[in-house]
Amino acid sequence: MGRPTAAAALLCQLGLSAAIQWLGLTESGSGVAWNESHHCRLLAGLVPDQFQMCRRNLEVMPSIVRAARHTKSSCQKTFADMRWNCSSIQRAPSFGPDLLRGTRESAFVYALAAAAITHSIAQACASGEVPLCSCGSVPSEVPGPDFRWGGCGDNLSYGLQLGAAFADSPLKSSKLGTQALKAMNLHNSAVGRQVLSDSLDTKCKCHGVSGSCSVKTCWKGLAKLDEIASDLKSKYLAAIKVTHRLIGPRKQLIPKEMEVRPVEETDLVYLINSPDYCTPNLHLGSLGTQDRRCNKTSVGSDSCNLLCCGRGYNTYTEEVVERCHCKYHWCCYVVCKKCRRKVERYVCK
Ligand SMILES: *[C@@H]1O[C@H](CO)[C@@H](O)[C@H](O)[C@H]1NC(C)=O
Ligand SMILES: *[C@@H]1O[C@H](CO)[C@@H](O)[C@H](O)[C@H]1NC(C)=O
Ligand SMILES: *[C@@H]1O[C@H](CO)[C@@H](O)[C@H](O)[C@H]1NC(C)=O
Ligand SMILES: *[C@@H]1O[C@H](CO)[C@@H](O)[C@H](O)[C@H]1NC(C)=O
Repeated sequence: MGRPTAAAALLCQLGLSAAIQWLGLTESGSGVAWNESHHCRLLAGLVPDQFQMCRRNLEVMPSIVRAARHTKSSCQKTFADMRWNCSSIQRAPSFGPDLLRGTRESAFVYALAAAAITHSIAQACASGEVPLCSCGSVPSEVPGPDFRWGGCGDNLSYGLQLGAAFADSPLKSSKLGTQALKAMNLHNSAVGRQVLSDSLDTKCKCHGVSGSCSVKTCWKGLAKLDEIASDLKSKYLAAIKVTHRLIGPRKQLIPKEMEVRPVEETDLVYLINSPDYCTPNLHLGSLGTQDRRCNKTSVGSDSCNLLCCGRGYNTYTEEVVERCHCKYHWCCYVVCKKCRRKVERYVCK
């Protein structure tokens, strides 16, 4: 820290915008009918290739807007118990330095965003919302003895094709960031899509007399985005610090530390260390954890000890109102009373 090179690199990066600006579609893209090509101009921050894709695939835009919304909520939910809680994603299409530089946190967000867009398009195909694509094809595997293929599978291949083209085009075409940063973001986006693809699994629905399940119909469906986010969080915790170096004829991402195993296609990678997110440092994108609610009995990352970084916590009591003494009345409603209860809350000093 504080070395002239680091400071210069930081200034350089602060002037940049991120290749995940499309996450800002949650603001600009909701409530748009997406039936006229000039609607694409509403989206600040699309690169020219994305703008063209929008014009050519208007029907897919609602799924991309949905993907942006799911990326935000899933990131915040998955990191609610961590010092870094994914709050700067809320400001998309602007981001804090935590997501603009090559940090572990941006590795996670790029991977999640890439998975989300593919997920959303694959499911939109299956639901019949997008005329350009259809259900995933019937699997070539022989069905099990107790089921038959049917229903409508997620169209993963179409989701991958269009999702990758849309999410990665800022990284392939424009001047956003250094070569190293682009290589990092491309790698992490591919990891997100790989984790999503690996989640494709057989899902079934039972038929038969009163749920006897004598007949089952099955199809191939993707896991929920929250499950993908949780897988990616494990990869975030195990992410590898890399440098972009010339190996033979071309530059590659290789581990910074000699003794670390080579980077695999399923590893998240990052270029620079993150702050500890304990104390506020706007320059580094750390908001600090003061006033965050912690859990006194937990031993995990949301424990008062870890979340408050050893600073201690304040205790206050809060009155919560709950439904209680519920009675079922024939037929068919439930009446409850309201009970007040005092609970202790803990917030970081
Ligand atoms: C687009 O949708 C809006 C609202 O549903 C409608 O008023 C408008 O006429 C539509 N435009 C076209 C070209 O279909
Ligand atoms: C997905 O959609 C594409 C485009 O409509 C179609 O060609 C393909 O058969 C569909 N299914 C799969 C599994 O790719
Ligand atoms: C995340 O942490 C910041 C900083 O402590 C806090 O202001 C914000 O409310 C938190 N966001 C969420 C979604 O919990
Ligand atoms: C606190 O953590 C404990 C142990 O992990 C858990 O059982 C409890 O539900 C948590 N409390 C709150 C308020 O989240």
